[in-house]
Amino acid sequence: MFAAQTGQDITYDKLLAPIDGFADSLRTFISEGGHGANVTVPFKLEAYEAADEVSERAGHARAANTLKFDAGRIYADNTDGVGLVRDIRANLGVAPEGKRVLLMGAGGAARGVLLPLLEARPAILVIANRTVEKAMQLASGNQHQPLAAHTELSGAGFTSLAGQQFDIVINATSSSLSDELPPLPDKLFAPGALAYDMMYGKGLTSFLSYAQAQNAALLADGLGMLVEQAAESFWIWRGVRPDTRPVILALRKG
Ligand code: ATR
Repeated sequence: MFAAQTGQDITYDKLLAPIDGFADSLRTFISEGGHGANVTVPFKLEAYEAADEVSERAGHARAANTLKFDAGRIYADNTDGVGLVRDIRANLGVAPEGKRVLLMGAGGAARGVLLPLLEARPAILVIANRTVEKAMQLASGNQHQPLAAHTELSGAGFTSLAGQQFDIVINATSSSLSDELPPLPDKLFAPGALAYDMMYGKGLTSFLSYAQAQNAALLADGLGMLVEQAAESFWIWRGVRPDTRPVILALRKG
């Protein structure tokens, strides 16, 4: 859809690598003339490790979702975080600046969006995780970097969130995959709050159903993020920015 819209001549297809054969599949694809690739779960870490050169945001996430092949070298980037923040800001009309943000999860998905979230300068960013130490580590590892200067950044467990309220709550755990829910306290959503699940699929995820029952004002799944991260990849490959809105609408219609 991006190619048709921008008049770019591009062939884009799916490549399913065996679980233990990502590096081989990548080599074969490059030798067959591939110019770039989007990489998804569970290969984002291997994609990062396969690169000769990495962007700052991929380095920070230790994961890559976008590869570009040029003159025998592999360049890795991570557009997930930018995609998330752009979806929240441009498509959902919520500005993270000065807001209280809760990021649930401390795995690859959370790591991938932390830097762009900090860049958006929320007043408070709490990383909450089932395994509390991982949230603490992720928070303390970033507390003193310049990007965090405008944000009170901390790590927590889910139960210790009781009594706090947030304007933006982002689910970056994989709990929705198994229809589970992190053990969240009641009254987490401030008036007007956005509940965002990075997962998407048919109907509401378990987190979004919970958020709806808790009166979150805005509910969003990860479809917009999917399209926005893809648009950023397209820009990295082609230097052209596609219009994401018609693509999001078309995908929503199915
Ligand atoms: P991803 O790349 O999707 O982030 P990951 O690195 O395996 O995958 O991380 C999964 C995240 O989802 C972790 O934060 C995990 O919490 P733990 O660190 O405690 O394992 C979280 N997670 C998965 N299932 C969950 C559930 N049912 N409830 C709460 N958190 C869950």
